[in-house]
Amino acid sequence: MSRTSKRRTDLELTRRNMVFGVALGATALAGQVVCGNPVKAQPTGTGTVLITGANRGIGLELARTYATHGWKVIATARRPDEADDLKAIAAEHPQLSIEQLDVQDHAMIDALAEKLEGQPIDVLLNNAAILGGRENQEYPKLNFDMFEPVMTTNVEGPVKMCEAFLEHVAMSDRKKLIAITSRQGSIGSLFESSLIFYKSSKSALNMAMSVVAMRVADRGITVGLISPGAVDTRMMKNLGVIIPLITPAESARLVSGVIDGLTFEQSGIFISHTSKELPW
Ligand SMILES: NC(=O)c1ccc[n+]([C@@H]2O[C@H](COP(=O)([O-])OP(=O)(O)OC[C@H]3O[C@@H](n4cnc5c(N)ncnc54)[C@H](OP(=O)(O)O)[C@@H]3O)[C@@H](O)[C@H]2O)c1
Repeated sequence: MSRTSKRRTDLELTRRNMVFGVALGATALAGQVVCGNPVKAQPTGTGTVLITGANRGIGLELARTYATHGWKVIATARRPDEADDLKAIAAEHPQLSIEQLDVQDHAMIDALAEKLEGQPIDVLLNNAAILGGRENQEYPKLNFDMFEPVMTTNVEGPVKMCEAFLEHVAMSDRKKLIAITSRQGSIGSLFESSLIFYKSSKSALNMAMSVVAMRVADRGITVGLISPGAVDTRMMKNLGVIIPLITPAESARLVSGVIDGLTFEQSGIFISHTSKELPW
C-alpha cells in the first residue's frame, strides 16, 4: 500500500471511529503524509478568508495576497484605527473589511463570530502571535510574567477562534482551519536553546490543532499547521538573529499557495511554506 493510500485509509478509519466515539492517537491524522502537492504559491479561485493579526507582518501580506486574488477578506487587528497599511489595502480592494479583534479576549471573539453568523468562512487563518521577548526566555533566568501572555495569545487564541468560528467554516466550500505555527515548535528538529515560552507555545499549538483536526474530521474540515519560513518582520527583528530572511510578501504568497493545495487527506499536517512536511 502506498503511503498516500495508507494515510487515506487511516483517515477513513479515524472518521469512522469518531462516529463511534473511539479516541485514536493523533498519529492517525498527523503521521505518514506524503506532501505530493506542487507548490502553487498563491491562492486560486475565490472564497472568504478571516485573518488574525492582519495589520502588519505576514498577516498584512496574507490580507493583501488574498484581496489581490479577488477573495473576500475579513482582516482583523487589535487597533484598526492605527492599521494604516491595512486601510490602504481596503481602499484598493473594497471586498476587504477590517474588524477589531484581540485574540486574548474571548468575549470579543464571540462577538465577532456572532456578528458574522451565517457567513461562510472558507479559510480561518490564525496568524496572530507574540514572541514574548528573547530576553525573557533564557533558561535558567526566565521571566515567568511572559509565559501566560505567550500561551494565551499563541495557543488559547487560535483554539478559541477555531471553536467560535467552527460553524462559519463548516458551512463554507473549502472548510479550512489554519494555524500559522513555527519550526521553533518542532521537538523533532530542535535548534537553538532560547525562546522556551515561544517554542513551547508553538508545540502546544501543534498538539491542540492536531486534536481539533480529529474532532472536525467528520464534518469534512481540513486543518493545517503551516510554518511561514524565516521572515523579515518585527517579530524576527526583535529576535535579533542574523539568518537569511524572506520578505513577508514572499512568505504570504507561498503560505497561501500551501493552504490552497492542502487536501482533506492531509488534515492535521505540520508543513512548511515550501510544502515540506516537518517533524513534530
Ligand atoms: N517572522 C518569522 O520569521 C516567523 C517564523 C515562524 C513563525 N512565525 C509566525 O508567523 C505569524 C506572524 O508573525 P509575524 O512575523 O508577522 O509577527 P509580527 O510582525 O510580530 O506580527 C504579529 C501580528 O500579531 C498581532 N497580535 C499580537 N498579539 C495579538 C493579539 N492578542 N490579538 C490580535 N492580534 C495580535 C500583532 O498585532 P499588533 O500590531 O497589535 O501587535 C501583529 O499584527 C505568527 O504566528 C508567528 O509566530 C513567524
